[in-house]
Amino acid sequence: MRVLVALLALLGSGGASAQDDAFDFEGLPPGPGQEETYYNCVACHSMKLVTQQRLTRESWDEVLDWMVDEQEMEPMEPELRIIVLDYLAAHYGWSENAAN
Ligand code: HEC
Repeated sequence: MRVLVALLALLGSGGASAQDDAFDFEGLPPGPGQEETYYNCVACHSMKLVTQQRLTRESWDEVLDWMVDEQEMEPMEPELRIIVLDYLAAHYGWSENAAN
């Protein structure tokens, strides 16, 4: 997991968010996984549908499966799925609503 985070930072999506005032990813908090989460979810619905939720990591896991199984979302590559899941759990976790 740490490796993925470091990789993301190298790719430039981690640290570069501070100056992105023009585009705020519908208010998704900056951090590793912000872009990935946005672009994989916003294709079908507003991020509000996502950000209004507070779920455990396990439940987010199930939501992602549900999106694929029932809502015709393209399955994500395993690495990408973990990045998105980490992001959702970190910022929209059940017990971590201080992240906003
Ligand atoms: C291919 C289309 C598609 C994609 C891509 C997609 N969703 Fe959805 N999502 C839906 C549809 C359709 C609904 C509405 C389902 C319903 O309420 O019956 C939905 C609803 C939701 C809900 C609301 C559930 C509720 O209880 O109200 C959440 C949370 C959610 N999606 C999360 C995500 C996340 C996170 C991603 C990105 C990883 C994502 N979705 C990507 C189609 C998609």
